[in-house]
Amino acid sequence: MNKENWVIETRHLVKRFGQVTALDDINIRIAAGEFVAIMGASGSGKTTLMNILTCLDTASDGKVILDGVDAAQLNEEQRQRFRAEKIGLVFQQFHLIPYLTALENVMLAQHYHSVTDEPSATAVLNQVGLAHRINHLPSQLSGGEQQRVCIARALVNRPPVIFADEPTGNLDETNERLILQLLTELNQQGRTIVMVTHNPELGKLAHRTIFLQHGKFLHEEQHIKQH
Ligand SMILES: Nc1ncnc2c1ncn2[C@@H]1O[C@H](COP(=O)(O)OP(=O)(O)OP(=O)(O)O)[C@@H](O)[C@H]1O
Ligand SMILES: [Mg+2]
Repeated sequence: MNKENWVIETRHLVKRFGQVTALDDINIRIAAGEFVAIMGASGSGKTTLMNILTCLDTASDGKVILDGVDAAQLNEEQRQRFRAEKIGLVFQQFHLIPYLTALENVMLAQHYHSVTDEPSATAVLNQVGLAHRINHLPSQLSGGEQQRVCIARALVNRPPVIFADEPTGNLDETNERLILQLLTELNQQGRTIVMVTHNPELGKLAHRTIFLQHGKFLHEEQHIKQH
C-alpha cells in the first residue's frame, strides 16, 4: 500500500510517567479503512497508546504521525481541531452528560465541532437504533443504549477514524454483540476503527490484532477479513 494511505503511524514511540515506561519503542501503522484491535494485559499500555493516537496526550519520545501530520508540530488549537474533525471516541465508561438527553448529548458534540444540527443528530441516533429513545436521559437508558448514544456522539461529526477503548467492557453479551455489529458496519462503510479489548473473541472480529506486553509491541495477528 502506498504510504499516503497510512492514516496513523508511530515511530519509536515512548511514553514515560515518571519512573514508569508505559510505552517502549512502539512502531505501528494503521491504514485507512482498517479495523484494528489492540490487546494486552492490564497495564500493558493500551489506553496510553489510545490517548496518544487521539492527541489526548503527547509522546515522551519518538514520533506520532496522524494523517501525514507530525503530532508534535500541532499547537493546542490545531490539536483540538484535528481531534474534532478526524476522530470519534468511544469509552468504556460512557461519559455521557447526565442531565442532557440522548439527543442533547449528541448535539453537544456538534456544538464543540461547529454548529448544532438537530436533523443530523437525530439521524445518527436512528442509525444506532435509538430513534425511540432520543429524549431519554442517560439514567433512563440501559447500558447498551448508553453505549449506542456514545457511538452516535462519536459519529455525528463524520470522523474518518473511530477509537473505542473497551467499548463493550460494561455490557452484557447481547449488547456486546450489538455494539460490535455496529462497529463492523461502520468499518464496512469505510471508517477506520481502532478498538481496545480484553476479549480474544472480539479481537478476531478485527482485520488485525496488535498485542502489547509491558509497554512493548509483542506481535500482531492478521485475521481473515469477513468482507
Ligand atoms: N497518568 C499516569 N501516571 C502514572 N502512570 C500511569 C499513568 N497512566 C498510566 N500509567 C501507567 O502506565 C502503564 C500503562 O497503563 P495503561 O492505562 O495504558 O494500561 P492498559 O493496558 O490500558 O490497562 P487496562 O487494561 O487496565 O485498562 C501502567 O503501568 C499504568 O500504571
Ligand atoms: Mg486501559
